[in-house]
Amino acid sequence: MATKKLTKNSSIKSSNKMWGGHFEYGPSEIMEKINASIDFDKKLYKQDIRGSIAHARMLGKTKILKKAEVDKIISGLQKIEKEIDSGNFTFKRELEDIHMNIESRLREMIGDVAGKLHTARSRNDQVALDFRLYCRDAADIILSELNQLKNALTKKANASKNIIMPGFTHLQVAQPITFSHHLNAYVEMISRDISRLKDCRERMNECPLGSAALAGTSFPIDRHMVAKELGFKSPTKNSLDTVSDRDFAIELVSCLNILSIHLSRFAEEIVIWCSQPFKFITLSDKFTTGSSIMPQKRNPDAAELVRAKVGRIFGSLATLTIILKGLPLAYSKDMQEDKEPTFDAIENIILCIKAATGMVDDMKVNKDNMRKLAASGYSTATDIADWLVKNLGTPFRDAHHITGRIVKLAESKNCRLDELSLKEIQSVEKKITADIFNVLSVESSVNSRTSFGGTSPKAKK
Ligand code: ARG
Repeated sequence: MATKKLTKNSSIKSSNKMWGGHFEYGPSEIMEKINASIDFDKKLYKQDIRGSIAHARMLGKTKILKKAEVDKIISGLQKIEKEIDSGNFTFKRELEDIHMNIESRLREMIGDVAGKLHTARSRNDQVALDFRLYCRDAADIILSELNQLKNALTKKANASKNIIMPGFTHLQVAQPITFSHHLNAYVEMISRDISRLKDCRERMNECPLGSAALAGTSFPIDRHMVAKELGFKSPTKNSLDTVSDRDFAIELVSCLNILSIHLSRFAEEIVIWCSQPFKFITLSDKFTTGSSIMPQKRNPDAAELVRAKVGRIFGSLATLTIILKGLPLAYSKDMQEDKEPTFDAIENIILCIKAATGMVDDMKVNKDNMRKLAASGYSTATDIADWLVKNLGTPFRDAHHITGRIVKLAESKNCRLDELSLKEIQSVEKKITADIFNVLSVESSVNSRTSFGGTSPKAKK
């Protein structure tokens, strides 16, 4: 078979300046395209520069580099950060990723000394550091957003202690509750999300730098110094594990996945509460859109989008899981695919939390509609059964049966339970007294549920 010998000509790219020592030629166009991550990992520039500055300082402290070299490197890095901040940096695909783009610019600025920055470091521990810092920064931002959402929910809940709404099971009116109790259910969910994220942040808070390519380094580095400088509680303990696991990102996105389920459920309730048959709340122009054809429409689009975003966040979790599964130790390029799904999950969850907080602040509660529906559907039937148990000593199962017959009677008369006469009620169970009417209102039903965690504002604490 005839083989065509490659000859160097102008259409063939020269090899990469950063690592091309034993490469004669550059990559094919498609290789460059599939290999380059700069289009998305440029988001890591602040973390990359922060990490490089800490690394350079450590190289100076341990005398691996001279002080003058370190100073030059650090001031160059600081200038590069400003260039990127202001949009005056040209990212180059042929330099693959953020690490090599920054190093190459540093070389343009300060000359060959830039090449010393990569002493005792590999892109493998560098990217593990940048990505971990990014995830940790994201966890901090998300935690602060979640605290704002929790405060908004708590404030609304505190103002809604006297607003009665129907509590549902199967989306059927079940028992009256306060709107405050309903909102506080979400306060609990968000509190668990906060605690989960804090745990996750704590676990990821170990510094990867110094693991080098996979086996550590022969230079006398000080990993503890770098860890401290970057706010980590300690350096990571095993170099192979450090460059090859992304469980911190998977854990973060898992936390976001659970959080997005909570937000999605809340968003669905907002959609239901805004709908004409319910009209429990009204959202203002700030969080609704109109229809291009129906002038009367006010659509809860923000809530619908929060409801939907769980799809892509769960998608990110699935992507990360599948990328990492089955990868042998240590680093493989597969791991470059970890960034886009993680960035997407982070960016979208922040949007969702902000939208949820905005809608909580914005919602106007139509308490009369809530109360009206709370009193429908024989919602105090359980209170009758409980009355029979407490006052007549009826076993609960029998009380349930008797109450069922009273409900049926009300149904046949097309009236509410408290609209039945005592005589009618006694036709089902003659021992019932007029005292039963004390438990039939939605207010008495709510106020009676004082058990720990119950809906009564006077519930045990
Ligand atoms: N852009 C790469 C990534 O995100 C950086 C690490 C490259 N390491 C390597 N051995 N090629 O994973």
